Amino acid sequence: MKKIIIIGAGGNSKVIIDIILSRIELGEKIQIMGILDDDENKKSLTDYPVLGPVSRISTFRENKEIYFVNGVGDNHTRKRIYETYSIEQYYTAVHPSAIIGSRVTIEQGCVIMAGVIINAGCSIGKQALINTGAIIEHDNRIGAFAHVASGAVTAGNVTVGECSMLGTGTKVIQGISIGSCVMIGAGAVVIGDIRDNATAVGVPVRIIK
Ligand SMILES: CC(C)(COP(=O)(O)OP(=O)(O)OC[C@H]1O[C@@H](n2cnc3c(N)ncnc32)[C@H](O)[C@@H]1OP(=O)(O)O)[C@@H](O)C(=O)NCCC(=O)NCCS
Repeated sequence: MKKIIIIGAGGNSKVIIDIILSRIELGEKIQIMGILDDDENKKSLTDYPVLGPVSRISTFRENKEIYFVNGVGDNHTRKRIYETYSIEQYYTAVHPSAIIGSRVTIEQGCVIMAGVIINAGCSIGKQALINTGAIIEHDNRIGAFAHVASGAVTAGNVTVGECSMLGTGTKVIQGISIGSCVMIGAGAVVIGDIRDNATAVGVPVRIIK
């Protein structure tokens, strides 16, 4: 039986709890042990206790039954926690309603939410978050710690760099390359490549930072 500890007691983790409960309903042998969060005012999240601050990872990670999921929504914080604690066992949370095509690789610790479609030949880097109803077309390469927010759509052969975020409802046309640490605003339409560290908004997208 895998025991799962979720890092972060925010809204994103609530949705991850629902993913895990859906998988338990399907018969997967996993259970939720609790949450870690640095806010000592947070005692529980839905029905699960906050077990202590994030630094308690160190006391749990030697237990081979325990797997972690990082529920922190901010890409850079997720990456920092990943780099600070050498966790070997991350659970990859995929909602049962997600449709995952052939020859898709999803690295450890990703979260794939309800209604997502990831089509053939894609690779999804570690700890990436693919949010509710996003559509990732064929042969995309989504970098580690990236976040494709709810309802975003990327056409075929798109590359999204490490730690980048596509805001809610973003559309990206085929073959585009989006750099690392990029922020694309909600509702944007991306029709050209985007450099590292840019913030871009609008239809079609324009770089504002
Ligand atoms: C892009 C974004 C990060 C910009 O935030 P910011 O750096 O604080 O920028 P500001 O709010 O100061 O806005 C700067 C300018 O961009 C415009 N702008 C901001 N977001 C925009 C968007 N999504 N679409 C179009 N224009 C936008 C603002 O109107 C403003 O224009 P102005 O200079 O002409 O007044 C933010 O607005 C956004 O869209 N975030 C995505 C949120 C999201 O999808 N979350 C999903 C969670 S699951």
